[in-house]
Amino acid sequence: MTACEIRAFIDQLPKAELHLHVEGTLEPDLKLKLAQRNHIDIGQTTVEEVRKTYNFHDLPSFLSVYYPAMEVLQTEQDFYDLAYAYLQKAAANTVRHVEMFFDPQAHTSRGISFATVITGLHKAVVDAQDLGVDAALVMCFLRDYSKESARQTLAEAMPYKDWIVGVGLDSDEHNNPPLKFARQFEDAQAAGLHITAHCDVDQKDSIEHIKQALEIMGVERIDHGTNIVEDPDLVDFAVKQGIGITSCPPARTDTSPKMKGEAILELLSKGAKICVNSDDPAYFGGYINDNYYALASQFNLSKEQIAQLARNSFEVSWIPSLQKAHYQSQIDTYLSKDK
Ligand code: HPA
Ligand code: ZN
Repeated sequence: MTACEIRAFIDQLPKAELHLHVEGTLEPDLKLKLAQRNHIDIGQTTVEEVRKTYNFHDLPSFLSVYYPAMEVLQTEQDFYDLAYAYLQKAAANTVRHVEMFFDPQAHTSRGISFATVITGLHKAVVDAQDLGVDAALVMCFLRDYSKESARQTLAEAMPYKDWIVGVGLDSDEHNNPPLKFARQFEDAQAAGLHITAHCDVDQKDSIEHIKQALEIMGVERIDHGTNIVEDPDLVDFAVKQGIGITSCPPARTDTSPKMKGEAILELLSKGAKICVNSDDPAYFGGYINDNYYALASQFNLSKEQIAQLARNSFEVSWIPSLQKAHYQSQIDTYLSKDK
């Protein structure tokens, strides 16, 4: 396949996005617009200047740019605009279903109410239907905050339970193992929510964290999670249990220059339910199709392998099985037309 053919194939392939932080879709131009609208001096006055601040080399340095950028998000309308701008891009990337992470504590900790955040995001989720994108929200706990803060956040979320499909765990993983939040995950599950957790790339305790998340907490997916290849027993467990692995190839290319491509391919060949996502596209330089393309072109993926990544994305999503079957048949149709 030529580069053009691969790109065209990916561009129209139906897919789901399961690892996407809505705050990570804050493009420099929107950041500037919101700063002006809310009369906030962010220290830059042009899009180019803002873009230059999106500069980091690992997870902690990324987070130290990422959280301060959120200060421009103040009103329900701001959260709506942020999410809707992403959902338009999702539609253009033939994303049919998306489960979007949001970080309430990154906002409530600076005085923005939970209601403001979730109402704005939810309105965008509703309006996304008109774009042909089925969207849902996944609430993340910040793992570098306390258990008590997670407990309070879950309590605040309860009145809005119907607007949330699951809970996740993100932010700085160093010395913040999944087990720290075992109780809050149990409570979330008891409330009928799905569970997933970041097991970020090449962390000090990556394998131990993956083990805890899968074997003790019983998460349905691991986000990033590609270090699992280092433990064949865990891979075997993940394959048997149909655990989702939501990789984000271009994230952390600073520390993993080959975007964990070999690990992704190994997991795919072993039948693990691994998929491709964009994580924080405004920061990592590309939306989901760019990420499929980066992986496919660098590692010479076949159409079948690319399609399998998309099939996996629907398979491990949190939609009803009838809807999954519908999307899988869209992929079948797409492949048969392509022949
Ligand atoms: N890892 C941890 N925390 C995050 C990420 C991530 O990939 N993106 C946004 N917050
Ligand atoms: Zn992430």
